Amino acid sequence: TQPLTLLGIESSCDDTAAAVVRGHDVLASVVYGQTSLHADYGGVVPEIAARAHAEKLDHCVEEALVKAGLGLADLDGIAVTAGPGLIGGVLSGVMCAKGLAAATGLPLIGVNHLAGHALTPRLTDQLVYPYLMLLVSGGHCQFLIVKAHDSFQRIGGTIDDAPGEAFDKTARLLGLPQPGGPSVEKAAKSGDPKRFPLPRPLLNQQGCDMSFSGLKTAILRARDGVVAQEGGLSVQDQSDLSASFQAAITDVLIEKTRRALGEYLKLNPEIPAFAIAGGVAANGSVRDGLKALCAGLDTDFVAPPLHLCTDNAAIIAYVGIARMTAGETDDLTLSARPRWPL
Ligand code: KG4
Ligand code: ZN
Repeated sequence: TQPLTLLGIESSCDDTAAAVVRGHDVLASVVYGQTSLHADYGGVVPEIAARAHAEKLDHCVEEALVKAGLGLADLDGIAVTAGPGLIGGVLSGVMCAKGLAAATGLPLIGVNHLAGHALTPRLTDQLVYPYLMLLVSGGHCQFLIVKAHDSFQRIGGTIDDAPGEAFDKTARLLGLPQPGGPSVEKAAKSGDPKRFPLPRPLLNQQGCDMSFSGLKTAILRARDGVVAQEGGLSVQDQSDLSASFQAAITDVLIEKTRRALGEYLKLNPEIPAFAIAGGVAANGSVRDGLKALCAGLDTDFVAPPLHLCTDNAAIIAYVGIARMTAGETDDLTLSARPRWPL
């Protein structure tokens, strides 16, 4: 039988995205970022995001279909992020998907955005269940044992901020552009990670829980210390602060991953596999650190390509395929959910 071909739609944060996926093949993936729209505000403004999604979605869908060389009639279903996320944006996507489903008669499949990140290693590497993963993004940070497309066991996570949020706040404090992750990573390349001894919160506490809000306060203090001494921040100061911050985040993620793998092995003594996904999984220092950890522990390490780690609609279409294959579809009563734990 021919694998299912689904259109995916994603609009839960600040990326408007559409994609066409057939089986494990991404036929087209289109992402319109909104960074410049939010640049003056120091963060994503929900109302601006929702309007931009509503304006861009149709174009995005059309572009994805054209790139895939397909028409609506070639699809088997429409998958859409139905949460969690900024509700105005999620609603825009859900309404767009409902319109398409109503007009074509195609099945509609609501997808949890977090499931999209969690199943990315299956889309890219056909990783078999169960596997351990670290989902680490702007809004989330959790260790999950992924047992099936709809079965996730959380074995730890952040008790306050997500690392992506910490990267973004650090960028703001250092006067670097948003999104903070890529700009802090870039600045860190020419920085000294040892110049500022920053805390590694909860590092020596048991379990796989993490905390990142103290790190942000420590960066603020370190920055203020430099400004008080030098009257401002030099490019080198920005780099050293960025490198010190990135090293602290990386250390915490590595140590907690070591523990999570220990927990996972107690539950699943078979061949261990560990994957990362979410925007912060695009960070080179984090990726390299986790890769080295896994190599030392004889664990398969899967790090999907960067464009599938950050928000996109291919991962949404892919979960849609998994749900549809399991006979799970929604109807036009599908609702958008601001909160939706896995
Ligand atoms: O998964 P994502 O695109 O959106 C959600 O939060 O769901 O993640 C966005 C987050 C932002 O906080 C961004 O700063 C961070 O991922 N990020 C990075 C990098 N690229 C994106 N953080 C660290 N290093 C990066 N290279
Ligand atoms: Zn995301």
